[in-house]
Amino acid sequence: MKAVAVIPKKENSVHLVEMDKPSAGDVKGGRGVLVEVVRVGACGTDREINNGEYGVAPPGSEFLVLGHENFGRVVEIGENVREVAVGDFVVATVRRPGRSIYDKIGTQDFTTDEKYFERGISRIHGYMAEYYAENVEYLVKIPEKLAEIAVLLEPLSIIEKGLKQASDIQERLKIWHPKTAAVLGTGNVGLLTVMALRMRGYDVHGFGWELPEDYLNAELCRAIGATYDSTQKTSVTDSVAKYGQYDLVFECTGYSPIIFDAMQSLNENGILILSSVTGGDRKTDAVPSDKINQQFVLGNRAMVGTVNANREHFEMGVRDFAVCEAMYPGWLARMMTHKVVGLENFAQAFDILENGAKYKAIKTYFEVKEI
Ligand code: BGC
Repeated sequence: MKAVAVIPKKENSVHLVEMDKPSAGDVKGGRGVLVEVVRVGACGTDREINNGEYGVAPPGSEFLVLGHENFGRVVEIGENVREVAVGDFVVATVRRPGRSIYDKIGTQDFTTDEKYFERGISRIHGYMAEYYAENVEYLVKIPEKLAEIAVLLEPLSIIEKGLKQASDIQERLKIWHPKTAAVLGTGNVGLLTVMALRMRGYDVHGFGWELPEDYLNAELCRAIGATYDSTQKTSVTDSVAKYGQYDLVFECTGYSPIIFDAMQSLNENGILILSSVTGGDRKTDAVPSDKINQQFVLGNRAMVGTVNANREHFEMGVRDFAVCEAMYPGWLARMMTHKVVGLENFAQAFDILENGAKYKAIKTYFEVKEI
């Protein structure tokens, strides 16, 4: 079968490889499922891995098959699989358990292991392939009605985990009735965050770099009742004069200096969620540290970093998708802007990833098989 791989840490090494087709029997205990990949997303993480910034090949392999945003159809099941049947649509989670105590209790998204295992990113081949085999434990069933947009579930799972962290942390307050939220970044992840917060009834304010005119992302914010502001015109801190302080801020720009603006825009008892994996070495100065520190102390503010997601967060995402489709039919499909047909056209997908602004891409994905 065909797969798209890189040589980790080697710049622009993306290429096609030919591999043996896996089978359900590759997974022990009769718990294996063979999935034919229908769609696989390409995102900033894939771009950064292809830029040589990070990524680790599985032991004994010189290449790493990319791909962690996935959607597929079950074609074969092991004898002890009851949870899914042949023909079902599924999305697989990304991280697999390592050694830490968090991994041992099924919460590998909180691993403390330095070497962690993520399909398509670290030490396990990913889903940019025609098939993959997986233990059914890591597969989440997808209703047929969501098939068209289900490749967006993995990025949404990251947001669902972040929001779950926020609500868990805010249990420190006996009462927390958040009303307003700011979402920093309105790319694929940002728009999904705007959606998830709108589904929870927040007043949502999206912030991106691009000017709003002729900008689909801005239009998509407005289409579900959120606002959009360009930070070229209004900084996040200045926006407080317009919208008030935010009970919750979700950062997903990939531009780390903005977190200091975010910290100054939080309401009392508010929470800031950081989700950008900033692999560079950017530094920033002129941070009003006394002011920020004092605001955090006097206002009992909180800030949390979040990465990866577990099964429960994927399941939360399925529910938000269903509600969003019912309330705003077709909105999610509008995010699926750039389809690349066939894995052999990987160069086209990576060109779109490298030049996302030029292409006005929100979600770039491969269609490997027709739904
Ligand atoms: C993926 C996560 C992963 C993180 C760090 C993200 O792009 O969506 O599943 O944990 O990268 O590797």
